[in-house]
Amino acid sequence: MARTQPVPPPAHPTGATPPPIPKKFIPQHVAVVMDGNGRWANERGLPRTEGHRAGEAALLDVVAGAIEMGIPYVTAYAFSTENWKRSPSEVAFIMRFSTEVLQRQLETLKTWGVRIRWAGRRPKLWKNVIEELEHCERETIDNTVCTLTMCVNYGGRAEIADAAAAIAADAVAGKIKPGNITEKTIQKYLDEPDLPDVDLFLRSSGEQRISNFLLWQSAYAEMIFMNVLWPDVDRRTLWEAVEEYARRDRRYGGAVDAVANDK
Ligand code: FPP
Repeated sequence: MARTQPVPPPAHPTGATPPPIPKKFIPQHVAVVMDGNGRWANERGLPRTEGHRAGEAALLDVVAGAIEMGIPYVTAYAFSTENWKRSPSEVAFIMRFSTEVLQRQLETLKTWGVRIRWAGRRPKLWKNVIEELEHCERETIDNTVCTLTMCVNYGGRAEIADAAAAIAADAVAGKIKPGNITEKTIQKYLDEPDLPDVDLFLRSSGEQRISNFLLWQSAYAEMIFMNVLWPDVDRRTLWEAVEEYARRDRRYGGAVDAVANDK
């Protein structure tokens, strides 16, 4: 059966279009820390949960902007392994809300050709959230326009620790020789081993922290901290960040001496 062709997302209501940036300067993988929902709501005299509600549209618009710009991988931090410390009512809200967002947005994301993936730990995560995430994964597995990985009950250290435990188990079982373990081995044991390294790491709300997000994958990511709360982010915020990214000089540890004429 022929697959239906993806439909491009609708333009931004202002009619804004992505800035012209040569393809080689477009990041392949953008990681997003959707921070500032609670503050956005409290500043308006609203409960924190209203900020999460407002954040749903921001996420969708950023995915639309990524597609328009030709960014193939977007990974969003929805709930960290540390977020269980929040009040039980906020945790319960986020669990229910995540399920609803996935149910509400699945058809749209499918239409746009988005593949949805989940990275994170199973233990503690609510069963219906896991079921919905896995349903979305199955429904979108053949989509190739953009991969949206939702990190839910995710922690960078937890991911690396789980990889180390699995490698140790395979070493004990005689499947791997400890002397042969390399960075590539660790990469293979991560939650989503085929995700490319993060090129651009974005965080909203003005906080300048990584907060345990994609620690392994962000080794050489360019970090951009945006002074805007997550519900006020849209595709134009992403495009501005990519313009700054395109101006950065990525050296991956290398160096060019601009003065000495060494060969
Ligand atoms: C961070 O703001 C935001 C979150 C912890 C939740 C974001 C979740 C969504 C937008 C739902 C999408 C989820 C799925 C799985 C589709 P904050 O609460 O830390 O804000 P603050 O820093 O102002 O307190």
